[in-house]
Amino acid sequence: MIVVKEQILALLTQCGGYLSGQALAKELGVSRQAVWKGINALRSSGCVIESAPNKGYRLVSLPEYLNETAIRKHLGTSVIGNNLIVLDSVGSTNDYLKRLGSDGCENGTVVTTREQKSGKGRLGRVWQSKRDENLAFSILLRPKLAPKDVTPITPLAGLAVCKALRKTTGLDCRIKWPNDIIIGKKKLVGILTEMCAEFDAVEYVITGIGVNVDQIEFPEEIAYKATSILLETGRHYDKNRLLAALLGQIEREFTRYNLELPPEALEEYVSLCATIGRSVTFKKGERTVSGAAVGVTAAGELRVMLSDGTVRTLNAGEVTV
Ligand code: BTN
Repeated sequence: MIVVKEQILALLTQCGGYLSGQALAKELGVSRQAVWKGINALRSSGCVIESAPNKGYRLVSLPEYLNETAIRKHLGTSVIGNNLIVLDSVGSTNDYLKRLGSDGCENGTVVTTREQKSGKGRLGRVWQSKRDENLAFSILLRPKLAPKDVTPITPLAGLAVCKALRKTTGLDCRIKWPNDIIIGKKKLVGILTEMCAEFDAVEYVITGIGVNVDQIEFPEEIAYKATSILLETGRHYDKNRLLAALLGQIEREFTRYNLELPPEALEEYVSLCATIGRSVTFKKGERTVSGAAVGVTAAGELRVMLSDGTVRTLNAGEVTV
């Protein structure tokens, strides 16, 4: 929802210099009091705004920490993030969005947070996100699909995140099947998709994405296999701009491929997937079997060639890569 404060911010940004309260009120068709309230709201979300008698207001800087105003300033999407919720702190953005989903929030709703206290990873793991260190966000979609047809959403999100990070940071990041983004052997991004469905129809799908941005210390048990953008580039990236870029790329991939994995999408995915060609292991009854990852199916499953030349398709829960 675009409110007066966003419109004020847009005008101050456009103008680059001073704008009087009267001019702002006239331009927006609101009262001087509404302008004053909007300026205060912008200040309390971290914008530095100078005011001078007879001149009015001038935007000096936007806050660096995650905030709605700055994200919207960079956001160029048409559906994803229209309804954008930026929290100060939350247990898990996926769980928070699930509650909104059950209350009927709109398709494309995004929840992000400055701090995630009990974030969820895949396979029951935890996903740490300390205040202002990383990006943790969730996107809710209401696709008109049967539950079995939503599987391409996660690989498409992985593809989008990988492409956006390569473009924004120049890092040679790759996809580790099914949906981690890695640099070398270290993990930079994790994705957790959850679904709420009736027997034959999806109510909503939530894709939660955690990107290690500024984290430089990791718990001992994962330190050898985790990394961050700061560790890899030596640079601090603006998280508001980065989130907007990620959401933009995700919307482009979802729209372009219509939430499916047609051959062109698979080709792109495979070209960025570090797992293809590597050895993977999985359980076959009591035995552990190894094979070479040779491709990905239109449902996002991994195709593995065994030593006898037969090819098996495996889902994410079955494989160790
Ligand atoms: C993984 O185990 O690799 C998946 C990690 C997913 C973490 C993200 S952070 C935002 C969203 N909210 C959560 O609770 N989890 C996901």
